[in-house]
Amino acid sequence: MKNLFLAFCLFTSIISTAQESPIIPQPASLKMGNGNFLVNNKTNIVTKGSGLEKSAKFLQAYLKKMYGLVLPISTSSKNDGNIILSYARLDYPIAGAYQLEVKNNGVIIEGDNETGVFYGVQSLIQLFPFTKSTSLNIPQLMVKDQPRFAYRGMHLDVARHFFPVDFLKKYIDFIAMHKMNTFHWHLTEDQGWRIEIKQYPRLTEIGGFRNGTTIGRYPGTGNTNTRYGGFYTQAQIKEIVQYAADRYIEVIPEIELPGHSSAAIAAYPELSCFPDSSTKVPAKIAWNGSTTGKQVQQTWGVFEDVFAPTETTFKFLENVFDEVIQLFPSKYIHIGGDECPKEAWKKSAFCQQLIKEKGLKDEHGLQSYFIQRVEKYLNSKGKQIIGWDEILEGGLAPNATVMSWRGEQGGIEAAKQKHNVIMTPGGWMYFDHKQTKNEDSVTIGGYTTVQKVYSYDPIPKALSAEDAKYVLGAQANVWTEYMTNTSKVEYQIFPRMSALSEVLWTPKEQKSWPNFEKRLLNQFKRFDWLGFNYSKAYFDPANNTPITTKKP
Ligand code: ACM
Repeated sequence: MKNLFLAFCLFTSIISTAQESPIIPQPASLKMGNGNFLVNNKTNIVTKGSGLEKSAKFLQAYLKKMYGLVLPISTSSKNDGNIILSYARLDYPIAGAYQLEVKNNGVIIEGDNETGVFYGVQSLIQLFPFTKSTSLNIPQLMVKDQPRFAYRGMHLDVARHFFPVDFLKKYIDFIAMHKMNTFHWHLTEDQGWRIEIKQYPRLTEIGGFRNGTTIGRYPGTGNTNTRYGGFYTQAQIKEIVQYAADRYIEVIPEIELPGHSSAAIAAYPELSCFPDSSTKVPAKIAWNGSTTGKQVQQTWGVFEDVFAPTETTFKFLENVFDEVIQLFPSKYIHIGGDECPKEAWKKSAFCQQLIKEKGLKDEHGLQSYFIQRVEKYLNSKGKQIIGWDEILEGGLAPNATVMSWRGEQGGIEAAKQKHNVIMTPGGWMYFDHKQTKNEDSVTIGGYTTVQKVYSYDPIPKALSAEDAKYVLGAQANVWTEYMTNTSKVEYQIFPRMSALSEVLWTPKEQKSWPNFEKRLLNQFKRFDWLGFNYSKAYFDPANNTPITTKKP
């Protein structure tokens, strides 16, 4: 009986302390111990194995920046009391498995690979207190952990609004701390072309700037009447790609085609079906400056002037991709493919002739032809393409990965066709939606609470176990029409990104909203400690409505 009572006490103490674990995303397995370990200026970071210096330096830099505590990095240790980074064979099929043990005489992080050790460091960092001190108490525990999905992404649109390099690095740090591994960088749009292409300088000279921007929610209350824009030089892009690689994050560039291409067309009108026609300015829109000739768009939406499927355009795109490929070592290039109106192609004698010549069914067939040509080129350069789910229309390019955004249907269809899929359905994964009923700043619409994000499962119920294997993971999309500054971006992504990290990382059977809620309260303190802006919608009773499991 006494033993039973002791066992019960032990059990409840494990449960209650386990619930107080501060780690997000929730590890696959976590056991809290009883004591603490003290990290102070006598602690060394010891790397046992080559390739672990990056993780050691990351940890060292964090402790120095946040606490003023400088720990030496060494490759051997004579005494106890250190933080040891090492490898162990964990044989997990997705990169990133690790074990983290905090004992009374030191910390051991063992990774399946470099990435795993880095994630072990991320978990360790989450154990440190939120007060400045050079003597840091952390709880003893044992974590055995690994990711559920291989693709764990965050997107950012830098075209509707432009963000400085320093913020992109901060954004990459947000991704790293959540054990996510992909930054989808949306670089070109109707409202701005943001990547320097040396062979086509007008892309950034002309396409990188617009003469004004709609004020307020579309159609808006006026125009800022201020030139707006910017772009990243190739040197800056290399710097960002390296910064991400040092955090085990792959940067996937998106070059939009054939739609959302007004900025490129403003720079090089010959890319349009109708080079001599002026850009259509939407009715009801306040416009600044000239309305003749091709213009970079000043407002939001979908525009009819798209790339013409001519040899001139394909040569242009191939030259652009040649430079893009040099900058991005990623396996994938995202080629957009969404929201391409077919009006221009319908009116164009050239396009109609091409449809006949190629035996295509219609303009959707022409879009498919367009994407397949680009895919063939990129495949020949060793790259795979990702496209938004419209690339299913008119027939999928042979090796394409589909990013499902208009709900889950595109993803389901693509997986059934044995194509890889990344789930980004609007109702759960669009962080431009408002997150509170009482939103105090303009958002694009929609209503997606942190709890709704948490409720998402990237594997649609409609898929068989066999087809579900094609779902690589999921991603949140951050479209920035209504995010004019970096603080608003942080507000829109936090705390929803923390919920997403658990959707992508934590084993399904371990996911628990009530448990996450407890850790979320601690996460808010972490955001304060780190100086991140975040939404407090979670605390507004107006938002505490039951989450429907029905998918819209
Ligand atoms: C998209 O939101 N147009 C992909």
